[in-house]
Amino acid sequence: MTKRICITEDSRSQALIAETIFADRGYEVVLAENGMDALYKINEMRPDLIISDVEMPHMNGYDLCRTVKSDTELKHIPFILLTLLSSITDVVKGLEAGADYYLTKPYNADVLVSMVGSILRNGPVSSNGDRAVSICMPAGDALLSFEAEPQKVFNFLHSTYENLVQENRHLLFTKQELRKLNNLLEEKVREKTMFLEGEVAERRKAENALKESLENMRKTVDGTVRALAKTIEMRDPYTAGHQRRVAQLSCAIGKQMNFSGDFVDGLEVMGFLHDIGKIIVPAEILSKPGALNEFELNIIKAHAQAGYNILKGIEFSWPVAAATIQHHERMNGTGYPYGLNSDAIIMEARILAVADVVEAMATHRPYRPALGIDVALQEIIDHRGTLYDSAVVEACRTLFEQGQFKFEK
Ligand SMILES: [Fe+2]
Repeated sequence: MTKRICITEDSRSQALIAETIFADRGYEVVLAENGMDALYKINEMRPDLIISDVEMPHMNGYDLCRTVKSDTELKHIPFILLTLLSSITDVVKGLEAGADYYLTKPYNADVLVSMVGSILRNGPVSSNGDRAVSICMPAGDALLSFEAEPQKVFNFLHSTYENLVQENRHLLFTKQELRKLNNLLEEKVREKTMFLEGEVAERRKAENALKESLENMRKTVDGTVRALAKTIEMRDPYTAGHQRRVAQLSCAIGKQMNFSGDFVDGLEVMGFLHDIGKIIVPAEILSKPGALNEFELNIIKAHAQAGYNILKGIEFSWPVAAATIQHHERMNGTGYPYGLNSDAIIMEARILAVADVVEAMATHRPYRPALGIDVALQEIIDHRGTLYDSAVVEACRTLFEQGQFKFEK
């Protein structure tokens, strides 16, 4: 015979879940929205078991239970209180109301079904005159004292035990899930770390390759610059080594003036190339002994512009073309080709100008013997601030006077 269960639950969704659980297992389910509604339906339909929520409007679960258990016609029906409440006070209230079982939410459907099955198989709860026992127990600061039938006390203890087992099972499951998640995270961190280490190694490799490639390129540029300088000097044997020595003195002056390593590197290239425009000057003029006429002088002077024209299309990381065209400009505007004055002349060209003059005067020329370093230094000292940059002259003078620089042969 189909067993009939009255489920009293004010939450519609909770009621439907409970209905499905029992209907699927062959029970007939009667739903009630609150205690009053349940009382009416229980009287009408006489269910075999009652499951009731505690907190409901109109009549709560305790009052419903108390009313059922005080009705001689109904008190034999097993009564399960199903609730979110779980303190000892709630349990005692349930016992006092006369409930037979107590289960906390969230409940496990299998536990509830097995409890209901067992109750219905074993018949109605004993309430046939068992002597009530007095129980006194602490609940927080208060002392609870009540009387209940031994069977019901046992049922409640059993329900509480079932609840604890269920809760423990849930905690164990959560712990296992957390451990799995933790392992997964550790694995992900390990994978990511390995990936990042690989990335770093790849990047380092790429950086080294780039550094090597830059170094090779620098060597190539350096070699090309030196080859170009050599080409000019082969046509003008009297100034052989002039550009190399100007490059060396320019670098020494740059360092003495505390310019950066990159700036000094640029001075070396400019020193090697500053006279490249002499390629347009006929060899016989370059090597002519004695004084040059105005026409020949003008051809010589054109080498600054010619050098600029050759170099302007090459992409250096320094202003090589600008320094080349300006290396014969003078601070007071008396130089060539444009007669620029101090502010318009770049620092690289001011350094080249001093190094060029000192080197040229200190060494032999087709039209005169070497004048010597002392005469060369006197020339720049006499004209510092007028023809030559004062700071550059000071740096150059210090280098020679303190024996920090000497021209190579
Ligand atoms: Fe020159």
